[in-house]
Amino acid sequence: MLELKHLSYSVDGEGANLDILKDVSLTVQDGTFLVITGPNGGGKTTLAKTIMGLNQPTGGQIIWNGEDITHLSITQRAQRGISYGFQQPPRFKGLRVRDLLAMASGNPGLTHAEGCQLLTRVGLCAADYIDREMDASLSGGEVKRIEIATILARNSPLMIFDEPEAGIDLWSFARLTDTFRYIHDKRAATIIIISHQERIINLADEIVMVADGVITDQGPKDELFSKILANTQAQCEFVRKGGLA
Ligand SMILES: Nc1ncnc2c1ncn2[C@@H]1O[C@H](COP(=O)(O)OP(=O)(O)OP(=O)(O)O)[C@@H](O)[C@H]1O
Ligand SMILES: [Mg+2]
Repeated sequence: MLELKHLSYSVDGEGANLDILKDVSLTVQDGTFLVITGPNGGGKTTLAKTIMGLNQPTGGQIIWNGEDITHLSITQRAQRGISYGFQQPPRFKGLRVRDLLAMASGNPGLTHAEGCQLLTRVGLCAADYIDREMDASLSGGEVKRIEIATILARNSPLMIFDEPEAGIDLWSFARLTDTFRYIHDKRAATIIIISHQERIINLADEIVMVADGVITDQGPKDELFSKILANTQAQCEFVRKGGLA
């Protein structure tokens, strides 16, 4: 179980502190598929990075399986089974895709077939990619999918994906949503996905809305989904007044 208790994160702004997360509390039960959504700049990525340890919170606590991990390093959190896929993944020049997958899985002897299976799960034609280098020749969507494959390879109990749909074509996206559904059906992990995509939100057990650094709404998907859809339309005055008619 993941518990966030009164989490805050501030940075030095010009002259004043900039509060990016403000008193965020949230409990995520094991095996839950949670989608975090909300407007751009609301604090979703900051929240995910704070859970992973890429940001040190300025207040509050993070409890994972009963242990206070607030001050643990990224590596220590990874060792305890937390993984995070970046909104904009880094490239690892000099490494081949198969090496990266083997490292992520913790199994240097990862077989060709196992590597290919992971790539297939993210909609990549495995034979074309398994021996590619992780350099600038890979497209943005390819890097993103390979990174998701490395998280699947890690097979950790808590997987956090930051906008996995970003830059991914429709066909690969369909495969990816099938993969998320498959992991969830097995209840093999707790999945937190930051997403704006209806098809991913639709897979969720629970939805959390983050805006302006706070949780503005949360609840079961069936309750919240229609509310969110209604909200996004109502917020835009131009559309509300029939500006697109
Ligand atoms: N180190 C920082 N210094 C200043 N501002 C920051 C810093 N980190 C994040 N922010 C600001 O905090 C806000 C939240 O950023 P964050 O990346 O968490 O948003 P988000 O909800 O993930 O948005 P998006 O949907 O666009 O990915 C933004 O306004 C961002 O510019
Ligand atoms: Mg973000």
